[in-house]
Amino acid sequence: MLITLEGLDGSGKTTVWESLREGRPDAVFTCEPTESWYGDSVTRSMRDDDADPLAELFLFTADHADHLSRVVRPALANGRVVISDRYTDSRFAYQAAALADSPLADELDPLEYIQSIHAPFTRPPDATIYLDIDPETGAERAGATNKFERASYLEAVRENYERLIEADPERFVRVDAARSPSAVAETVERRVDELIDGERS
Ligand code: TYD
Repeated sequence: MLITLEGLDGSGKTTVWESLREGRPDAVFTCEPTESWYGDSVTRSMRDDDADPLAELFLFTADHADHLSRVVRPALANGRVVISDRYTDSRFAYQAAALADSPLADELDPLEYIQSIHAPFTRPPDATIYLDIDPETGAERAGATNKFERASYLEAVRENYERLIEADPERFVRVDAARSPSAVAETVERRVDELIDGERS
C-alpha cells in the first residue's frame, strides 16, 4: 500500500511524517524530492529564482522516476507499506502553478499536461493525506525560504490541490492543519491506522 502526504509548505507535513515514522517501524518512509543526486539537482534548481519552470518540471519528474524504480516499486513488491512525504500531486499542484504564466499554458492546461507525462510510468498512491492550511498561514509558518513558499504562489498551488481532490475524492483524506502540530499528527496517525487496517480486513 502506498500512502502519500501532501499539503502546502508550512502545513506541518514533515512533523507529521516524523511522528508516523516513530509509530510504524515496519513501513518504508520516503520523500520527494529524494536524497539522490537527482534530488540534489532539484534542490539546486529550486534555489534559483531564474530557473526555467519547464526544465524544473522535468528535473522533479526525473527524480520521481528514480524514486519509483529504486525505492517505491521494490518496497511495494516486498509487501511493505510505503509512506511518502510529497509525491506526484506535489508536481501536479506546484509545477502547474509555476507553468501558469508560461507559453505552454497558451497551448494546454498545465495540470493535465503534467499528469499526462506521469501516467505512462508512475504508480498512483492508494491514499493521500492532504494537510489543509490557508496560504497565508502556510507562508508565514514556512518562512518563505524558497520561491515556492510565497503566499500568492501558494494560493495557486492550493487551487490546484482542490482540483485534484475534486477529481479523485475517494483517494484523498483531508485533515485540518491549522491546529497544533501535535493535534494534526494525532489525527493523521489515526487516519493512517484506519487506511492500513481497513486494507487488511
Ligand atoms: P519539501 O522538502 O517537502 O519542503 P517542505 O518541508 O517545506 O514541504 O519540498 C520542498 C519544496 O519543493 C516545496 O516548496 C514544494 C516543492 N516541490 C515541488 O514544487 N514539486 C514537487 O514535485 C515536489 C516533490 C516538491
